[in-house]
Amino acid sequence: MSDTASHTASDVPPAPAPAPATPPPFRPGLEGVPATQSAICDIDGRQGQLTYRGFDTAILAAQSTFLETAYLLIWGDLPTAVQLREFEHEVQMHRRVSFRIRDMMKSFPAQGHPMDALQASAASLGLFYSRRALDNPEYIYGAVVRLLAKIPTMVAAFQLIRKGQDPIQPRDDLPYAANFLYMLTEREPDPLAARIFDACLIIHSEHSLNASTFSARVTASTLTDPYAVVASAVGTLAGPLHGGANEDVLAMLEAIGSPDQVEPWLDRAIAERQKIMGFGHREYKVKDPRAVILQSLAEQLFDRFGHDPLYDLACALERAAAERLGPKGIYPNVDFYSGLVYRKLGIPRDLFTPIFAIARTAGWLAHWKEQLGANRIFRPSQIYTGSLPRQWQPLDAR
Ligand code: ACO
Repeated sequence: MSDTASHTASDVPPAPAPAPATPPPFRPGLEGVPATQSAICDIDGRQGQLTYRGFDTAILAAQSTFLETAYLLIWGDLPTAVQLREFEHEVQMHRRVSFRIRDMMKSFPAQGHPMDALQASAASLGLFYSRRALDNPEYIYGAVVRLLAKIPTMVAAFQLIRKGQDPIQPRDDLPYAANFLYMLTEREPDPLAARIFDACLIIHSEHSLNASTFSARVTASTLTDPYAVVASAVGTLAGPLHGGANEDVLAMLEAIGSPDQVEPWLDRAIAERQKIMGFGHREYKVKDPRAVILQSLAEQLFDRFGHDPLYDLACALERAAAERLGPKGIYPNVDFYSGLVYRKLGIPRDLFTPIFAIARTAGWLAHWKEQLGANRIFRPSQIYTGSLPRQWQPLDAR
């Protein structure tokens, strides 16, 4: 018997741990780092083009409806006439929310932000519809329908509740966008206003791996329920660097005051290194194609319902900013003109971001479904910058 053969397993020195691979360079904000593969939406930030499942969003805004676009985003293809009719019918059937959720909303502080109310109400759906069957296409369909149907009802309900009124029930004879405006204002909207609002929902419905969609995908990757996925995305959308910027744009335009103040205001803001709200985008180095569409929707509304002097100010700001910030690739983003559209539709300012959430729910759900199709939990690494191991000091020795 050889020496080697007489060794026990414990005598064998452990194999050295593999040398750590050189970590990829740290990119703050994950700029340029692919975090997933996706077939939903494509952005060409140099040409200013945006497509959903291969369709130009300008075409969708002009020809499609929000529910048809949501179907396209989530299931990958345009629905047939029968599929669309069924989908619209299902969504319409699920618009009402439980009186328990309405009662819960009545206990929210009236001065609370509607995005916080929406996040809490969206999360509460998980309490009512908790059965989780993520590998069952019927469950996926049902959850998509329920979320698309109930999110607008909850946004409108909080608006009435905080004014001290009872929420009104959805109107079954009205399409998606018109019904939301009806629930909000208690008046059947003008058809042009409803059509323009629907187009706004279409162009806000998806935008690849933005912060809230990333949030949705991370949450989805844990295989939690879709209500938690949407609630986490709503919380992320609320911030002023993301969906919350649309509120700030109007405040900024009002603070500027008049077109002759635009240039001095902008020069001062740039000198103070302030961010100009509604400008700049990680992906676009030209004017955001959604801003182009929204500007034209705003003009259609002004032609029909009267001009808004803030629009002249916004155009003057866009021109002045093109000279000063254009060379850095900073141009109007989706939030720059959306507030002017919503203002003309008579929508209160702090509902602009919840409306963004109504639309983006379609994109979040498309990413939820795609994530489930090839799931691996998100768990990136970090570069530790804290202290070396330290000795514990008892309280009386510190
Ligand atoms: N006004 C002035 N300067 C700007 C602006 C702006 N709006 N946006 C970017 N810059 C400048 C920055 O100061 C920075 O300049 P520097 O290199 O000299 O320091 C450079 O451009 C890069 O800016 P970052 O903030 O690093 O760009 P990032 O890609 O991280 O941020 C963001 C993108 C958050 C959208 C940014 O442009 C911004 O804060 N814009 C204003 C808020 C806004 O409109 N958000 C809505 C975005 S659309 C959406 O989320 C729905």
